[in-house]
Amino acid sequence: MEHTMKAIKTAVVGLGMMGSSQIRNCLWKLPQYEITAICDPFTPNLDACRILFTERGLPVSCYSDLADLLEHADCELVVIVSPDYTHEKIACDCLRAGKHIRLEKPLAITPAGCANIQRAQAQSGKLLQIGLELRYASPTRQMRAWLPRLGELKMLTCEEFRPPFLPKRGLVDDWITKKEYTGGTLLEKNCHHFDLFNWFAASRPVSVYASGDGLVEYAKTDILDNAFVTVEYENGIRAMLALCLFAPKKIAGSSLNELEMGLLGNRGRLELRGDEVFVWDRETGGEECWHYARENFEAHSDDIIPSLVELADCIRNGGEPLTGIQAGINSALVSFAAERSAEQKRIVTIAEIESESGLKFIV
Ligand SMILES: NC(=O)c1ccc[n+]([C@@H]2O[C@H](COP(=O)([O-])OP(=O)(O)OC[C@H]3O[C@@H](n4cnc5c(N)ncnc54)[C@H](O)[C@@H]3O)[C@@H](O)[C@H]2O)c1
Repeated sequence: MEHTMKAIKTAVVGLGMMGSSQIRNCLWKLPQYEITAICDPFTPNLDACRILFTERGLPVSCYSDLADLLEHADCELVVIVSPDYTHEKIACDCLRAGKHIRLEKPLAITPAGCANIQRAQAQSGKLLQIGLELRYASPTRQMRAWLPRLGELKMLTCEEFRPPFLPKRGLVDDWITKKEYTGGTLLEKNCHHFDLFNWFAASRPVSVYASGDGLVEYAKTDILDNAFVTVEYENGIRAMLALCLFAPKKIAGSSLNELEMGLLGNRGRLELRGDEVFVWDRETGGEECWHYARENFEAHSDDIIPSLVELADCIRNGGEPLTGIQAGINSALVSFAAERSAEQKRIVTIAEIESESGLKFIV
C-alpha cells in the first residue's frame, strides 16, 4: 500500500540535533514523505540543514520564520522538532493553518499549554502524532506481545541511569537544563517512561509521589538529575521510575538509552535489558530471551520510523495514531504531578492537576 501512496509534502520545523537526525535517518528513508520546506530561526542550524539538501541535490524551501512558512510553503504535514518551550505556539499555529502535525514530546511545558493544543486540534480536525516513540520500539512491542504470560500485571519498574543532556546551541543555549524552558526533567525526559507506564497499566493513575533533586550534574540549575517516582493506578498497579543522569549504566548493545524496564505479574515477570527481553515463568521457573538486532542507533530512529509509517497511513487512509494527543496529555499529566510532588515533597493526585487545567486523563 505504502509504495503506491502519493508522498506527503512535509515541512520540518526545528533543525537541531533531533530535527536534522529525523530528516537524515527517518524522513529521507521513507518514500511516504517528501520534505518541501525547513524552518529554523537560528541561522547556523538552518544553513547546515540547507547544505544537507544541496549535497543531495534535493530542492527545499528554507524559512527562518514559521508564519512565512505557513503562508508560502507547499505542505500538508509539519514535523515539529523545536525546543519544548516552543511546542505550544508552533503546534497551535500549524493546526490553525490546517496542517497535520507530528510534535516532539512533551506536548507542552504547562497544563494550560497542553489544553491550548488540545483545543486547536479539536477545532482543526487535523491529525496530531506525539513523539512518544518508545511505544513503537521493537523490544517494547515484544513486551506487549508477551504481556499475557504474566497473568495479572501488578508492578512496573523503569530504570534510566543515563548520561547528562548533550549541550544545546541555539536561540537559548542549553535550554534543556532550565526548568522554565522544559517544565523540568520529569516532564522533558520521563514523559516517555510515564507514557509506557500508562500504556501497560491501561488504567487511570491516581497519585504520584516523587523524591528528586539536582545533586551532581545539575546542582547549579533548577532541574533534577536524580529521582525516584512512584505512580499508583486505579486498578492497583504500582509503578516506579528510578532516574539518574550522573552515573550512567551502559548496557552492551543497548540502544534504548540505558533504559531497563520490568513488568511483574502474578504468573511471571518480563524484563527489558538493553535490546533483550526476558520472560520468566513463576510456575516452571523457566526463562526465555528475545534479542533485537538493531540497525540504526542514532536518536531513536529505529523507533521513529515505524511511528512515521503509521502516521502516513493515518493521513492517507484515516485512523488515529497510537500516540495521539491523548497519550501526550496522559503522560504530561503524570509528569506535571511528579514535578510538583518533588518540589513540594508531598503526594500529588492527578485529579489536582486535572481540576486546575481542564485536562482529563482518558485511558
Ligand atoms: N523523542 C526523543 O527521544 C527525543 C530526543 C531528543 C530530543 N527530543 C525532542 O526534540 C525537540 C528538539 O530537541 P533537540 O535535542 O533537537 O534540540 P536542539 O536545541 O538541538 O534543536 C532545536 C532546534 O530548534 C530551533 N528552534 C528554536 N526555536 C524555534 C522556533 N521558534 N521555531 C523553529 N525552530 C526553533 C533551534 O534553533 C534548534 O535548531 C525537543 O522537543 C526535545 O524534547 C526528543
